[in-house]
Amino acid sequence: MNESIFITGANNGLGKEAARQLAMKKETKKVILFCRNENRAEAAKKDLEEHTGKKIFEIILGDVSDANSVRRAVEKIKEPIDAIILNAGGMVGKAAGKITSSGMNELAATNVLGHVILVEELIKHDKLKKAVLYPSAEAVPGVKMLGMKPVAMKTSSVDEFAGVLDGSYFGNKFDAVQAYGYVKYAATMWMLSMSRRYPHLKFVVVSPGNTKGTGAPDNLPPAMKFMLNNFMMPIIFPLIGGMVHKLEVGAKRFVDGISDEQYKSGVFYASKQGKLSGDMVDQSTFYNDLKNTTFQDNADKAIHRFIK
Ligand SMILES: NC(=O)c1ccc[n+]([C@@H]2O[C@H](COP(=O)([O-])OP(=O)(O)OC[C@H]3O[C@@H](n4cnc5c(N)ncnc54)[C@H](OP(=O)(O)O)[C@@H]3O)[C@@H](O)[C@H]2O)c1
Repeated sequence: MNESIFITGANNGLGKEAARQLAMKKETKKVILFCRNENRAEAAKKDLEEHTGKKIFEIILGDVSDANSVRRAVEKIKEPIDAIILNAGGMVGKAAGKITSSGMNELAATNVLGHVILVEELIKHDKLKKAVLYPSAEAVPGVKMLGMKPVAMKTSSVDEFAGVLDGSYFGNKFDAVQAYGYVKYAATMWMLSMSRRYPHLKFVVVSPGNTKGTGAPDNLPPAMKFMLNNFMMPIIFPLIGGMVHKLEVGAKRFVDGISDEQYKSGVFYASKQGKLSGDMVDQSTFYNDLKNTTFQDNADKAIHRFIK
């Protein structure tokens, strides 16, 4: 049972809805909302208090793409927390390919860098007691029906993972939509590596599935956003079935993943092969690279090349 939970990117979308659902559990005593913008954080806190009738939300300000900002945030955590959801992220928008001071591009810094530092600093300072959840995506194993190819790295070497994180793996033409799956794969493999290193903690990876009502489409290229909002979401996905669900359903995957003992450490859970909604299954049953412990450790080593 998690009494205190820390959620990054908790002012919107899945992070905010997961905060609401977790607050409604009787065991939850504290939910820390980690957000980069004070006004948006305060507005979310007020809204969550109104919707849950509970005054158990705290704000810590910080930016997950900035290593020092994350380190300062960890100093602000006074009592050890039970669980953390590394939710902030997505395709980031136009700045995705821009190189940050860490050497990772903005896409990787947001989805990977700060979260790795956050977890490792919490462990180092004995401030994490039970569980970590990382949101990955069905973009990793791919969805054939939608033409989404599985992530297919040639060797999954340390150099290759490092190339994914600074964008050089993709050559001159950086496409955030394609790179997104690779960046999520790198973070997923880091989580699986951590699950072996820290067996007393739960490291679970969960895809929320294709979830309506989040800010994610705003970060897509305009033509893709138009197609998604006007054809795919309202017409095509409902016709195929098992391809989309409501915000409450996507966020419940996080809540179940972090709270329910049936979801195990060292496993990446997402929709059944070829689907984006419905039951969650262990992705390593059809995406074999997840089982490779050398690949997992290579992702970890590559990420640490960028952490000073
Ligand atoms: N939506 C889906 O269908 C889907 C599918 C698979 C995986 N996911 C994953 O689920 C997670 C949540 O996605 P979502 O769809 O709920 O996205 P969203 O609605 O866009 O929310 C993202 C949240 O992260 C925050 N954030 C972004 N960059 C940040 C930074 N550098 N520092 C601190 N906070 C930051 C945003 O804050 P601001 O308001 O300040 O921008 C916002 O609160 C992501 O990791 C995403 O990759 C989503």
